[in-house]
Amino acid sequence: MNILVTGGAGYIGSHTVVELLEIGHNAIIMDNLINSSAKVIDRIEAITGKRPTFYKCDMLDKAAMNALFDKESIECVIHFAGLKAVGESVREPYKYYYNNLSGSLDLIDVMNAHNVKNLIFSSSATVYGIPKTVPITENFPKGECTNPYGWTKSMLEQIFTDVQKADPKWNVVLLRYFNPIGAHQSGLIGETPNGIPNNLMPYITQVAIGKLKELGIFGNDYNTHDGTGVRDYIHVVDLAKAHVKALKKITDNSGLSVYNLGTGIGYSVLDVVKSFEKANGIKIPYSIRPRRAGDIDSYYASADKAYKELGWKAELGIEDMCKDSWNFQKKNPNGYDDK
Ligand code: NAD
Ligand code: UD1
Repeated sequence: MNILVTGGAGYIGSHTVVELLEIGHNAIIMDNLINSSAKVIDRIEAITGKRPTFYKCDMLDKAAMNALFDKESIECVIHFAGLKAVGESVREPYKYYYNNLSGSLDLIDVMNAHNVKNLIFSSSATVYGIPKTVPITENFPKGECTNPYGWTKSMLEQIFTDVQKADPKWNVVLLRYFNPIGAHQSGLIGETPNGIPNNLMPYITQVAIGKLKELGIFGNDYNTHDGTGVRDYIHVVDLAKAHVKALKKITDNSGLSVYNLGTGIGYSVLDVVKSFEKANGIKIPYSIRPRRAGDIDSYYASADKAYKELGWKAELGIEDMCKDSWNFQKKNPNGYDDK
């Protein structure tokens, strides 16, 4: 299949392009490189032996998107492009709403104009808000998001749902990611956060490499087995593979589908620290800090629906996640160097 991957130079997009190419699909990347590097294209070629077509194109530039669709015979779009920093979205909400919503609305328009009506969308578990219980299943109600970034995901889900409802020729798959970590086993592609990382695993790897002194653990008085927050960490390669499996819903003309992408297992912050230390033989100094605003005690998926309907389940465990995150950090101490 000819697949347009928006945001395909980014963390999850690049891993998905690798999986698509390896299984014989043709991947065309569209990215404005606002949070990624063109070097990723070389790295994808080094891993797969195939060079994806790359357009440096902003989804806010509708004319450029139209030209791209005129040129390539796109059959399906996997839509990763978007801004994703939670804290920044609180400080600069307009930027987030404008980029993520306007860009996606233009994408829908361009897709309609070219009769391309197959879409897989990167959503987030954040759309559930604060769940009443765990594990979280897809039929839990959507909740109040705690930040503008989360709202862009929730709103875009609604927009794509309504577009599909109005025109049943559309096939839309909404994928709700839990906490992606890890990197490709080659160590050639991975996550390269800007500045001091907000998320747990990139913070740990930067402590391990000596860039940061110690990890601050945000609270040890949560209602969990050791008092620290529990999350559903998923290896980015497993996550990428789920996108390939989700193409089944496109070829089956399934209309609208929604899936959680997680492992179904919750690990606490201390579990992750211990797993990282064990997997890599490196001590991670830490201290307990106050709770972070907006955090909740326990958040993990039921991943049963994706298994039943897509035949997908996560294969890689916490040890692989820790090893591969560290392998990428070691091999790329300064990310791709140009970001
Ligand atoms: P990323 O920042 O690495 O990738 C996003 C890519 O989109 C970047 O390469 C960026 O340059 C590009 N982009 C942003 N705005 C663009 C625009 N206007 N035009 C063209 N390209 C643009 O992020 P990621 O972690 O790979 O996330 C991919 C998607 O998954 C995002 O939509 C994100 O919100 C979603 N998601 C991520 C996580 C996570 O923890 N990483 C969790 C849930 C959902
Ligand atoms: C965060 C976002 C979420 C987003 C996701 C992926 C918030 C409140 N939530 O989820 O919207 O979809 O990232 O980008 O920002 N922790 C520490 N010390 C650190 C960093 C994290 O103790 O330095 C703890 C957190 O308190 C939490 C766990 O580690 O218990 C995971 O945190 P993080 O990686 O930031 O992910 P989420 O908070 O689950």
